[in-house]
Formats: sequence, structure tokens, C-alpha cells
Amino acid sequence: MQQAEHDLVLVVDFGAQYAQLIARRVREARVYSEIVAHTLPVSEMLAMGPSAIILSGGPSSVYEEGAPGIDPALFAAGVPVFGMCYGFQLMARGLGGEVAHTGAREYGRTPVRVSEPGTLLADVPAEHRVWMSHGDSVAQAPEGFSVLASTDDTPVAAFEDLARRFAGVQWHPEVMHTEHGQVVLEHFLHDIAGCRQTWTMLNIVEEQVDRIREQIGGGRAICALSGGVDSAVAAAIVQRAIGDRLTCVYVDHGMMRAGETAQVKRDFEEVFDALDVVDAADQFLDALAGVTDPEEKRKIIGREFIRTFEAAEVRVFGSLPDEGQTTAYLVQGTLYPDVVESGGGAGTSNIKSHHNVGGLPDDLDFELVEPLRTLFKDEVRAVGEQLGLPSTMVWRQPFPGPGLGIRIIGEVTRERLEILRRADLIAREELTRAGLDRDIWQMPVVLLADVRSVGVQGDGRTYGHPVVLRPVTSEDAMTADWARLPYDVMERISTRITNEVAEVNRVTVDITSKPPGTIEWE
Ligand code: XMP
Repeated sequence: MQQAEHDLVLVVDFGAQYAQLIARRVREARVYSEIVAHTLPVSEMLAMGPSAIILSGGPSSVYEEGAPGIDPALFAAGVPVFGMCYGFQLMARGLGGEVAHTGAREYGRTPVRVSEPGTLLADVPAEHRVWMSHGDSVAQAPEGFSVLASTDDTPVAAFEDLARRFAGVQWHPEVMHTEHGQVVLEHFLHDIAGCRQTWTMLNIVEEQVDRIREQIGGGRAICALSGGVDSAVAAAIVQRAIGDRLTCVYVDHGMMRAGETAQVKRDFEEVFDALDVVDAADQFLDALAGVTDPEEKRKIIGREFIRTFEAAEVRVFGSLPDEGQTTAYLVQGTLYPDVVESGGGAGTSNIKSHHNVGGLPDDLDFELVEPLRTLFKDEVRAVGEQLGLPSTMVWRQPFPGPGLGIRIIGEVTRERLEILRRADLIAREELTRAGLDRDIWQMPVVLLADVRSVGVQGDGRTYGHPVVLRPVTSEDAMTADWARLPYDVMERISTRITNEVAEVNRVTVDITSKPPGTIEWE
């Protein structure tokens, strides 16, 4: 990202999973943000040229054993700083205030009283509720600070020093349960730190298109489309940059849902010039014959996918004129959380093609093109809408790469896939009819292919398979809760599946949260 076009806010991560949410909230305030580890030397943070720095939450007390600190040089650099929760205590201590080691805890929704709004708490009600999670409390603000708010247990719950452009709150303004949290954050960013509000979806698209044009020059790129939103948006941006020098490849492995390949093809052809649909169903299903172990299934599907994609690469790149075009570009939909979680930072990555693919020059390098590397999922969806992608594509529920292959418990066969497809289609139709598509994160339908139970239908006894509905709500798929589907929706799904799919005589609902259950059954 070209920082010069945007003010950069660094969110210093003290390791309690708040940093990503804070970074997203900063971007919602239209200011670009990045996350850095608290172990990064302050000199390196400053070298990134931040317009403001936010110290995130972390351990409950600065006195906790092994609690991370911050180099006081940070406060001498003339850069605005905002401390939240643990970051607030670090600021108080680092600037000469007093943090009382009381051991008293405040946790959860807590009423806060604003005694003096100042700039930070302007426009928020004198009494409101905020989310707290701390042990010790700031007893005395450092010199130069005005105290703005307190709670029953915390005499100094918010402060600011406008001359030095420092501010802090003991609570978590970034979480949903804090009232007016975004207003407070924006007061800091816009009114105290003076950050420019330039981070909009329109800008993101234009900048990425320019950047990719510069990176790829006259080269050619290939992108594997999964039908999901990330690869679609990544490809749409690259296509805008290089037009028909991008080839999109979609591999149909024979384990997609009913009508899915046709839908993906229709959606993509509205947007993309060239979509290479590879029908590899026989190849995948033959390789899966007799396999029941979930991990083995995944490995086989992954292996066959790479083979198919390599063959597509040969078609796309193997015919390149040899005019010094040794670099081929591979588009990937890597998101910012993937980059943060893998400890990555700035810098471009290069992958070599380890395998000697027939027809390709031995020394062919792939250079990765990752247009979404700085974006969160909700930003990707917003960019997708900005690019005019169809909403079926932008709002598609997550679907795993191995497809229905990991929703058939037991061997994957064509017959079983067909049974599951019919049951799944009914479940999806009824969910859509009930208007629940955006409330439900996803709803796998799982076929227990090796289980049979006795039933009765018409005049006769049946001996069919159960299916499991697995509706979940989630924000990021890391944790999930089972969705409380309305009874009448469950009833319609159950009645239709048992009437219309002869091989299924029992419909059950999975009511396990994640953890301990995963979303998928395999
Ligand atoms: P679990 O089952 O681990 O799933 O709770 C979390 C999310 O990831 C999806 N998922 C996969 N996606 N390849 C994928 O591309 C996979 O092998 C895979 N396994 C699970 C799942 O649908 C859910 O959204």
C-alpha cells in the first residue's frame, strides 16, 4: 500500500486478539491502519511514518508477571498516541501517572460517568455503558492530562492531553458492547490526531489497479477461482488492471452443489472476459474411490487440484512468446488476517514452481499478485460491490474447497453425491425463501452415508440414510454457535427432503457450538 496517499495508524498488538478489531474500526473511520507486534522496536514503528499510534488491550495489569512494556521513546516522538485498556495503563505509567495495584477487577458492561467531555468524549452521553476487562486502575493521570471520566472502581477511566495529542480510555471502544465506542475512536483519530479520512472503497480499487498494472507490466496472469468471494474480488481487480491478459480457471471437481458450476459460470461471465472451466469430475472421483478417511480425502483433493491447475498453467503460460517474458503472475486472494496470523509484514513474496511441469520452461517463476493483502473480509465484500460484482457472488456463504466430498461421511461416490445434492438444494431453497441467507453464516447438509435407520413411508417400511442440517452463526468461522432456525423452516426442510429424496428418511439438526464441534463434519 502506498502510505503517502493515506495517513497510517499503527495498532500495537499486546497479544489479546483485540488488535484486528481495532484496526478494522480505524478503517471504518476511513483511516488506513496496520497492526504491528509490541516487540517491534519503537524506532522501526516510527520509521513507518505513522500519523498516530494506538496501544491495544492485553494482559489485565501492567503488574502482571511478564506483562509487556513499551519503550518510553514512543511518547517522545511527537506522534499522537491513544491507549485502550491495557494500553491506557501503559500510557499512564510510562508518562508518570499512577497505576494502583489494587487487584480489584472490573469485567463486562460497566457504567461510566463523563465528568468533562473534552475533545475525546464530546457528544457522548454523560452516563453510558462500556465494556471493561481489567484488574488494576489508573489512580492518578500523568501531568498535563485532563481526567474526563470515572467508574465506581476507577477514578481515572479516560484522559487526554491535547497539547501532546495523547488520549486514552480504560475501556474497549472497539467492541460491540461499548456504547459510542466508534464516536470516541473517531474523536481521537479525526479531532485529536488530525488523520485524513481517505480510506474509502473507491480509493482502494483505484490504487490497487494502478499498483497491479505497475507490477505486472505487459505480463500475463492466471487466477484460480473457487466461486468464493475472495478469489472473485482479487480476480476482478486484476482484470481491471490488465484486461484479457488475465486468465481465470475454475476447476469443477464434481463435488460442487446442485447448479453451482452453472451459477459460478454465469456470474463470472458477466464480469470476466475469459473463464476457463475445467471439468475434472472423473479425475477427482476416480482418485477418491474407496477412501473414507477425512484427511486422506482432503489430501487427494488437494493433490488433484494442483495437477489440474498445473495443466491449465501449461495451456496459459506454455504458449507464451519467448520475448524475455520469464515472469508469470499468479493471483491469490490472501486477506490481511492471513498475513497477520502468519506473522507476515510488508514485502512481496515469490514462489518458485518446484515441480517441473511438462511444457513449462524449467526456470519459470511465479510472482504472486495479492490485491487483497491489506484488506479485511468485510472490506473485500465492499470492494466487490464497488466493482459491480453480482451480489450472489459477493454475499455467497462460505463453501469449503473440497466441497461435498467432506460432507459425505464415508466413501464419496457419484450416487451419494447426487443424494446429498438434492437434499442440500432443498435446504438452501428453504433458507432463502425464509430470508435467512445473511443471518446464517452457512448451513452444511451432511449425509451419513454409512448409517441407515428404519422408517415408514406410505404403506411400506424404509431403510434409508439420515442427513444432518448444520446451521451456524459466526463472525469469522473461528468460533460459531448453532443457529436457532425457526421451527416452521426446519419443518419445511424436513418434510420436503423426506418426501422428495427417496434415499433419505430422517432429518436431524446439529446443535453443537464451535468449539467443541467444527462447522464441517469432516
Ligand atoms: P471448520 O469445519 O474447521 O470450518 O469449523 C471453518 C470454515 O472453513 C471451511 N472449511 C474449509 N474450507 N477447505 C476450505 O477451503 C477445507 O478443507 C475446509 N474445511 C472447512 C468451513 O466450511 C467453514 O466455513
